Amino acid sequence: MSSVVAKTDAAGGATLHPQVLAFSSSLKLDRALLKEDLIGSLAHIAMLARQQLVPQADARAIHHGLVSLWEDAAKGTLTLPDEEDVHMAVEAELHRRIGAPSQVLHTARSRNDQVATDLRLWTREQCVRTLESIGGLVGELLQYAEAGRAVVLPAYTHRQRAQPISLAYWWASWAAGLLRDGEAFRFVLEQADTLALGVGAISGTSLATDRESVREALGFSRLTENGLDTVGDRDFALDFLYASTRLLVRLGRLSTDLIDFSSKEFGFVTLGAEIACGSSMMPHKRNPDLFELLRGKSGSAIGALTGLLATVKGLPGGYNRDLQEDRGPLLEMGVRLEECLSVLRLGLKNVRFEPEACRAALEDGSTQATDLAEALVKKGIAFRDAYQAVGRLVRSAREQNLPLAKLTVEQAAQVDPRFDAKVLTVLEPLAAAARKNSAGGTGELAIAQQLVNLAQSAAAMRARAQSVPRLDGLFSKLKENWK
Ligand code: ARG
Repeated sequence: MSSVVAKTDAAGGATLHPQVLAFSSSLKLDRALLKEDLIGSLAHIAMLARQQLVPQADARAIHHGLVSLWEDAAKGTLTLPDEEDVHMAVEAELHRRIGAPSQVLHTARSRNDQVATDLRLWTREQCVRTLESIGGLVGELLQYAEAGRAVVLPAYTHRQRAQPISLAYWWASWAAGLLRDGEAFRFVLEQADTLALGVGAISGTSLATDRESVREALGFSRLTENGLDTVGDRDFALDFLYASTRLLVRLGRLSTDLIDFSSKEFGFVTLGAEIACGSSMMPHKRNPDLFELLRGKSGSAIGALTGLLATVKGLPGGYNRDLQEDRGPLLEMGVRLEECLSVLRLGLKNVRFEPEACRAALEDGSTQATDLAEALVKKGIAFRDAYQAVGRLVRSAREQNLPLAKLTVEQAAQVDPRFDAKVLTVLEPLAAAARKNSAGGTGELAIAQQLVNLAQSAAAMRARAQSVPRLDGLFSKLKENWK
């Protein structure tokens, strides 16, 4: 009897070939939606009872049955029957536990609006977790930045040394990008923040339901407007996958900086023994596998995003079974995100910047050529004129096989008399970085302001995450019905 529900009517009846059932089952994946499914059903049965659409005694039995499923799952003792999906498995297990009263649970509901609801609840929960992880990561980046204010290294354009920056500025740049990813997840939160439950299979119900009270119980801000739209809508899932992919692509780019910086060619970074991997053949290797894998994982994330786009593309309006294929890309992305963010934070704790090596990359002075030009501008010389004068100076140093910083005042004055001792002092790298105080610059004052602004944005992001209802909290509240 345990399979009474799905293996009869809902999945196609007793005639359904077992291979077709196996092929069409999503239980292995959507088992991950169990909490969401139980919460949705708890809110639904409470509404049905309030509206007197089902006998109170049946509702009470269903309520306690669903609560017992949740509690067994929390203890790790719940086994679900082999059904087509988590929704049918829950209903079948409920039937096994409480018998006939379970039959009223699906009143005025379809799996089409049920799965849309579960997925929205899942997406909301996952956005909160991700926002919290991003918040934690950004907090750590800002601490690294604080500690790196007096360390200078080159910033790169075209992977060629460009200008000196502080290490604080480098860390802050990643924090700024991550906070933008946080904003993308906040957008996803808004997109997912509508109650789908109650539109039924596609066109609503003739029964006197009250979607508003279900909305309230599940902590959504709005109701979906139109059932035909609702059951075929996976926009929030696409938005989640896009935000996730963009975040992972960013982690990959940060990883590339660290992979490069940890190579002998750069030498800016030493990887701690806890994260450096070896080689099976070359005994000297300390490889940045962790960062390479972080970069690699964004590849399969892009696959998940384009995969779901391709699934949705060309579908007619309304529900189509194709949509079940959202489960793989979506649910796996949650796991991937949490793993990547957590491992990155561990990796960064085991990265040590080498201030001497970073500074050495700036010592020949060429990266301060723009500073020389700006020093001339400060004397009233037009920028293009100053730029050309510095260009001549750079060429002259190169012809004499001397680093720019090693030219004497006399040698410089020979190229152009406007280069005097005071102008040439700007070649010192730390001071060169410290004086770029335009808003958004690497200067000491500018970076201090950035760190304040970034910390404020991180706090706002965390506050937003904390304002979202969580599954465990919703369950505790719903459990209070029929005490
Ligand atoms: N397992 C299905 C899914 O996740 C549930 C909806 C099935 N609806 C249907 N009409 N067969 O999409």
